[in-house]
Amino acid sequence: MSTVDDPTLHKLADLGVRDAVSLAFQFTHLRARLQRELANASKSGGWDKLREEWVGTGNSVKTRVTENWLPSAPEHLRSFVSRDLENLINEVFVLSTVMRPLDQLQATTTEQVGKQFQKVSQLFDQEVSECTNEVDLGVTRTSWLGRSSGVLTHVTNNWLKTAPADLKRTVGAEFNKLKSHVESQFEARRVVIEAGADEASGAKERVDLSLPGVVRPLGSRHLIRQVFQEIEDIFFSIGFSVVEGPEIETPYYNFEALNIPEFHPVRDDMDTFYLELPKGAPGPLLLRTHTSPMQIRTMEKQKPPVRVIVPGKVYRRDNPDATHSFAFHQVEGLAVDTDITFCDFTGTIEYFVKQFFGPSVKTRFRPSYFPFTEPSVEFDVSCVFCGGSGTTASGTCGKCKGAGWIELFGAGMVDPAVYGFVGYDAKKVSGFAFGIGIDRLAMLKYGIDDLQVFFQNDVRFLKQFP
Ligand code: PHE
Repeated sequence: MSTVDDPTLHKLADLGVRDAVSLAFQFTHLRARLQRELANASKSGGWDKLREEWVGTGNSVKTRVTENWLPSAPEHLRSFVSRDLENLINEVFVLSTVMRPLDQLQATTTEQVGKQFQKVSQLFDQEVSECTNEVDLGVTRTSWLGRSSGVLTHVTNNWLKTAPADLKRTVGAEFNKLKSHVESQFEARRVVIEAGADEASGAKERVDLSLPGVVRPLGSRHLIRQVFQEIEDIFFSIGFSVVEGPEIETPYYNFEALNIPEFHPVRDDMDTFYLELPKGAPGPLLLRTHTSPMQIRTMEKQKPPVRVIVPGKVYRRDNPDATHSFAFHQVEGLAVDTDITFCDFTGTIEYFVKQFFGPSVKTRFRPSYFPFTEPSVEFDVSCVFCGGSGTTASGTCGKCKGAGWIELFGAGMVDPAVYGFVGYDAKKVSGFAFGIGIDRLAMLKYGIDDLQVFFQNDVRFLKQFP
């Protein structure tokens, strides 16, 4: 048997064994060889020689595996080698016992028979106790209870069937004892393994409540949206309501009805993006340049009294820089009733500014011009950075450029010509309108010096305004 090809003569590495699978392959080969030799021995004897060759203390398979495989095994495979070897040795003992008739084992008395059964039972106990998982247990079960070549089948064939008449009873009884022992031990072991597996998988699945959870940050409202909200709240408190309108407008609402006829010079400031429309479509359409078209749309829809604010996005042909953007935000305001005066107008604006920036902020207005208001004014607030002085500790105030005032919004009393476009009686009603640039306002209030951050959606910026 110790031919040159015998793998047990070589080191594991030379056999290409690097993992558990290739190791199992080597043992499967050894086992197949053992089966062949056992079959030969049952035909022609030679049991002692077989045992000597496999598990003897001399140059046996056991010795060679111990000397050639075990020390050369990679660290992580070493325990597998010794376990597989142990199983192999066990198999040699068990099979070379149960494949021989009792008389060849010198078991001719009840007592000797009992001893043989006891030996087998012990070998079984050892094997089953080494099964640590369901796969091992399944393999062991087949080698003991397998129908064609399981150990118990060998016992039936070689011991029970061939037993002399006077021993048959004993052998039968011992056999039943062994069989029920084997079956009950398998069951007991299965329960143990299953419980262990449950525990192990339980440990894997157990939720560690002390671990911090996965943080899924909630977004927040964009700063512009927050400022809209603040403004809305202030105007709500004095009886205004909110309306919103389309960002795509007709020139009629954006210009004409606001008393800006075609070729009026203010169109130059406000010319904007016109939409490319399919041929034949009624047009033209444009992106609104201000929220003022909603003055018209609101008055068209309702009779006075009107008190609305209109938050929204507007568009102009501006090149983006720290203070310009082609899209920005406004809040339009409109109040029309039978007896609204210029005092109501300034009072409302002042109230808003003080609510928004705080009571110490002062306001002023300067004459201005808008085609849809008459008179028109430009509202300024005292600079919130230098307190209106125009200077800070480090010199001229950079925010108001030393002026002490910051221009905040355009406004005025609604031009009577506008009422003509919406069917209001200019003799009976009066009112005021204003337009606040929100981006500017937000920059002032929150000390932001680049308008572009509003549009970049950088979370590092957004997170500062939760
Ligand atoms: N719509 C004007 C603008 O965008 C502002 C404004 C609104 C002026 C209402 C007066 C009245 O510049």
